[in-house]
Amino acid sequence: MRRRTNHRLRGVIFRSPETAGVAPREDPRRRQPSTEKGVKSVLGVQTSSVRQGVIRKYRDWLPQIPDPAIATLGEGDTPLIEAPRLSERIGARLHLKFEGMNPTASFKDRGMTVALSRAVAEGNRACVCASTGNTAAAAAAYSARAGISCFVVVPVGKIAMGKAVQVLAHGAKVIQIEGNFDAALKLSLKATEELEDVALVNSVNPDRIEGQKTASFEVCEFLGRPPDVLALPVGNAGNITAYWKGFKEWREADLADLTPRMLGFQAEGASPLVAGYDFERPETVASAIRIGAPASRESALGAVRESGGLIESVTDEEILDAQGLLAREEGIFCEPASAAGVAGLLKLARERRGPEGVAVSVLTGHGLKDPDVILARSSLPDPIPATFEALAASMERG
Ligand code: F0G
Repeated sequence: MRRRTNHRLRGVIFRSPETAGVAPREDPRRRQPSTEKGVKSVLGVQTSSVRQGVIRKYRDWLPQIPDPAIATLGEGDTPLIEAPRLSERIGARLHLKFEGMNPTASFKDRGMTVALSRAVAEGNRACVCASTGNTAAAAAAYSARAGISCFVVVPVGKIAMGKAVQVLAHGAKVIQIEGNFDAALKLSLKATEELEDVALVNSVNPDRIEGQKTASFEVCEFLGRPPDVLALPVGNAGNITAYWKGFKEWREADLADLTPRMLGFQAEGASPLVAGYDFERPETVASAIRIGAPASRESALGAVRESGGLIESVTDEEILDAQGLLAREEGIFCEPASAAGVAGLLKLARERRGPEGVAVSVLTGHGLKDPDVILARSSLPDPIPATFEALAASMERG
């Protein structure tokens, strides 16, 4: 049992699923059963999509959630894109799982739909999370959907502009602390211990892991088998934990004989799992993975050990180079942290340690979330006169 004291959040007006809806409430018994293409949301509003959301798609693999509590935005079913040019550089057949195509443009949506739906089903009136940005954006969106309040605790000045804008747009409360992500996580945990009816929606919440593991099911389904290796960025280490859980469950269900080798990559300036000790002042251009004390350390190291994989670091330069190659050679714009997996594969290939067979790298978030990094390295050119001659001359210069 968790200790609860009598603290209440004074002055905070909780939204509730009952009052938040734009649609009139209806008798749940009169609801139509959900269909493949049309899915009922928590508000009784129809969402039309072939993307039915990970809870309905993988119901048997997930914790129980009553239908009316499901808060979904049609997450999951993200594309697995073959990358011929990068495959040549890496020496394996590379596919990119572009998680930036989720509703809030990162992989966090998979876990957040489960965490928020369960929080509502259990009667919580608010959620809280620590974040480097993406968790906050997803928590804000899914809380809006579920009709509960959302508080996000972030390191002051350290989250990318696009993510901050998302949180503000969804009406969550941003609490900036004079401390890093690790301090924010400790505070958020304390808040859920001390305050009533507030759910923690960081990846230490097992519901988040359950939702995120669905990405490995999709990879296996799309390829027709598990890949030989899976490469991904590692920050708080929830995602590598979730993928590994998913691949193991897939094998245990006799849907495959194999599991992939898990290759995790941290940014050099924030690489506690590689160094073997916590980083007090983690620093990297990849702000999403600027984390010095990963909460899921043990399960991440377990995944690497059990799968015969590895966990290594890549420099900021390698990360930005990989981000550029993905954008220019494959047409996929991901945020810096998301390129760490590909940066790692390129590094292994350069050192003649590259994987063979089928490789999947997870691109965890969309590049539009972090425009500052690109704008800091390039700028728009000066204008030209509005004449054809000037246009032709400019195009000839290339
Ligand atoms: N990639 C992106 C884009 C992320 O936002 C994160 C984590 C990771 C990779 C690493 O995943 O923490 O499960 O190992 N972002 C968290 C956040 C910490 O607050 O948005 P992880």
